[in-house]
Amino acid sequence: MDHFLYRDGVLQAEDVPLPEIARVVGTPAYVYSAATLLRHYRLFDDALAWGPHLVCYAVKAASNVALLKLLGDAGAGMDVVSEGEYRRARAAGVPGERIVFSGVGKTEGEMRHVLGNGIRQINLESEPEYRLLSRVASEMGVEVPVTVRVNPDVDAKTHEKIATGRKEDKFGIPIARARETYAEVAALPGLRVVGIDVHIGSQLIDLDPFRQAYRKVADLTESLRADGHSIERLDLGGGLGIPYARSNAAPPVPSEYGQVIRDEVGHLGCEIEIEPGRLIAGNAGILLASVTYVKQGEGRDFLILDAAMNDLIRPAMYGAHHDIVPLREPAPGAEPATYDVVGPVCESGDTFAKGRTMAAVGAGDVVAFRSAGAYGAVMSSEYNSRPMVPEVLVDGADWAVIRPRPTYDDMLRRETVPDWL
Ligand code: LLP
Repeated sequence: MDHFLYRDGVLQAEDVPLPEIARVVGTPAYVYSAATLLRHYRLFDDALAWGPHLVCYAVKAASNVALLKLLGDAGAGMDVVSEGEYRRARAAGVPGERIVFSGVGKTEGEMRHVLGNGIRQINLESEPEYRLLSRVASEMGVEVPVTVRVNPDVDAKTHEKIATGRKEDKFGIPIARARETYAEVAALPGLRVVGIDVHIGSQLIDLDPFRQAYRKVADLTESLRADGHSIERLDLGGGLGIPYARSNAAPPVPSEYGQVIRDEVGHLGCEIEIEPGRLIAGNAGILLASVTYVKQGEGRDFLILDAAMNDLIRPAMYGAHHDIVPLREPAPGAEPATYDVVGPVCESGDTFAKGRTMAAVGAGDVVAFRSAGAYGAVMSSEYNSRPMVPEVLVDGADWAVIRPRPTYDDMLRRETVPDWL
C-alpha cells in the first residue's frame, strides 16, 4: 500500500497534487511520501514485536538525509556500507549505537571513522578484514562489537546481480568454515563477538530461501554457543521484495516474514536485527518525467521522456519493470497505447520499457514511474551532463525539496581546469 492515489482525476502524493510539484520543481524529479515510508518501517517493527529487535534501514536504498531523519526519529536503526552512509545517518541524528556497518571491503579509514564516532556493531566478511579491524581497534584502545557474515549457500531465486548468498558470491565467510573463523576472531584483541550476520539477496519474492538460511543460522548459533561464544544478536539482513507491477501476485508481507524469523530463530533468545531497504523505500517514491516527444518508429511508437537511464538505471541494469502512469487519470474506457518508453541518452540501453501498453499520452504530459523510491535516486548520475535529479518529500499537505537540482553553473563549478592548460 502507498499514498500515491488519484483524487478527482489527478495523481497525488498524499494530499499534494503531483502536477503542482512537477510545475514548481520541474521534471525529472523524485517524490517520496513520508507516510508510506513510515508505514513500511512500522510494518517491520510490528512483525518483530514478539521479541527484542532493531530494524536497521538499509541506507543504500534511498539515502537522503531527510528520509533518514524521518526513519531515525521513528526509532529505526541504520545499516550502512560506507563512511558516506555512516555520515549521512549521523547527520540525520541517528546515534552510533543504532548503526551497523556492513560491506565486503571496508577500508582502514572507514574503520577508524566509525570506531572514533560510535558504532553498534561491525559485520565482518573476511579474514584480512577482521585482522585489520583488530589492529585498528587495538591501536585506538577500543573494543568493537562484531558479527561475522556467513554465506549459507542458499539460492535466493532472485535476479543474478542481486543474489548474495550462494557460495560463488563474494559475500561473507562460507558457513562451513564459521566455527574456525569465530575461534580466530574471538582470540583477537579489540574485537568482541556478539552475534551472527547473514544477507542472501534482494527482491526475494519467496520466503523459502529466508527460511533455509535462517535455519542454518539457528544451527550455527547452537554450535557457536557450545564453543563458548556469546551469541546475543542475529542480524538477518534485508531482501524482502516488493510488487513492481500491479498485475503481479503480491510477494509476502513483513508480518509473514516476521513469522518465518520467529519460527526459525525465535527460540534462541537473541535480539533480532534486520536490514530492509527496498520494502521500506521502494513504494514510498516515484519518479516524475515529462513526455518530450512521441516519435513514430518502424512498427512502434517511441515515448521519449525527459528522464533517462542516468536518473533511473534499474530497467537498463536489471531489466527491471516499473509501472508508468499519467498524472491525469485516463477517462474510463479510454483506449490505451503501446510504446517503447525511452530517455534521451545516446545509447539504446536507455530504454525504460519495450512494447509497454499504458495510458495514451502526448508531448507535455507528465508521467510517474511507480515503485522508484528504492535504488532510484541513489543510483543516479550526471551521465550525458544531465544535472543530478532532484528529490522532494511530501508529508500530508506539506512538501519540500530535499535535494535541489543543480544548475548548469553548479555542475561546471565542481570541475577545474589546471592552469598549465
Ligand atoms: N543488507 C545488505 C548487507 C545488503 O547488501 C542489502 C542490499 C540490504 C541489506 C538491503 O536489501 P533490500 O531489503 O533493499 O533488498 N540496486 C539493486 C539492489 C541492490 C541490493 C544490494 N544490497 C536494485 O536496484 O535492485
